[in-house]
Amino acid sequence: MTPNRLTGGLAVAAPGTERPAGTERPPAPRRPVTTPVEPTEASAQAVRDVLAVRDVRIRDAASDREIVHGVSFTLAPGQAVGIVGESGSGKTLTCRAVLGILPEHFAVTAGSIEITGRDIAGLTPAQWTELRGSTISAVFQDPASYLNPSLSVGSQIAEVLRVKAGLRRRAARRRAVELLAAVRLREPELVYDQYTYELSGGMLQRILIAAAIAADPQVLIADEATTALDVTVQAEVLDLLADLRERTGLALVVVSHDLAVVAQVCDEVLVLRDGEVVESGPTERVLHEPSHPYTRMLVREHEQYGLERFLDAGKDDAGKDDAGKDDGGKDDVR
Ligand SMILES: Nc1ncnc2c1ncn2[C@@H]1O[C@H](COP(=O)(O)OP(=O)(O)OP(=O)(O)O)[C@@H](O)[C@H]1O
Ligand SMILES: [Mg+2]
Repeated sequence: MTPNRLTGGLAVAAPGTERPAGTERPPAPRRPVTTPVEPTEASAQAVRDVLAVRDVRIRDAASDREIVHGVSFTLAPGQAVGIVGESGSGKTLTCRAVLGILPEHFAVTAGSIEITGRDIAGLTPAQWTELRGSTISAVFQDPASYLNPSLSVGSQIAEVLRVKAGLRRRAARRRAVELLAAVRLREPELVYDQYTYELSGGMLQRILIAAAIAADPQVLIADEATTALDVTVQAEVLDLLADLRERTGLALVVVSHDLAVVAQVCDEVLVLRDGEVVESGPTERVLHEPSHPYTRMLVREHEQYGLERFLDAGKDDAGKDDAGKDDGGKDDVR
């Protein structure tokens, strides 16, 4: 069979991790993700955090330059942290470090990354394969490039479930259809048998999200996952992520150059500039009362895109299910 990129390490799952349909992780207590933790509390907190990034530095050996100069944040179950900043500021490299997929020549040269309390330094490729999907998963821009055009989209999710969650063929199909419904695709049975060329960008991104959550990860990294979508569909996919977070306790890292995206989903935000965190804190505070000139500039630049609308109403609207009038309804079934 043609290799399926979904089972190759990113949107993947490990055996024995599936939670029966309908059961949900209890909501986790909320706390600020960027607030330093007192040493006395540290060990207990480390157990609760699903992700802890501490003073991570990333170096490019090819250019002999340090690109990321000490990024820190923690994420408890159900929390969402945003990473914003201009192109080239190190957002994707930070995510790739967390996922263990830094490009060639790049390495974490200082600091630590813990996923569910486990230091990732020194993980073997086999351990990484197990961790990715089952514990941490990712969705990037350009969903079509992660899907095989010659296989139905549903069968590719079922493949993830068979390979990573050990489901048998029929159970995998059933579960894949449930996942398609969970990401608010209407007529999931029909969508299951469709091919990438038959589906819109928004629908493909939902399919990627379905694959990414198939094995019930605790952390989902969405790196510019909605950037290529039109504004309405983007808002719907973000709403879906917020809903998954609420219902399942999924923790999110949302990377975007677009502050409005982060304002809609995240409680906390890191502002990166040239590989440095210039400001971090609660999203409302950072975006309403930015203290760093660079953040102020970003906010000014984004005002034309309706940031205020999200800041004022976004949180209240986040749980609203407007899937019935989304792209899934308009152009899914042809
Ligand atoms: N594969 C690579 N090879 C060489 N340099 C790279 C590679 N990936 C990233 N870089 C460099 O590292 C720096 C940070 O890149 P990164 O992709 O993390 O930026 P970003 O904040 O995600 O930007 P964007 O908003 O454009 O996605 C940039 O200067 C970039 O040129
Ligand atoms: Mg990037």
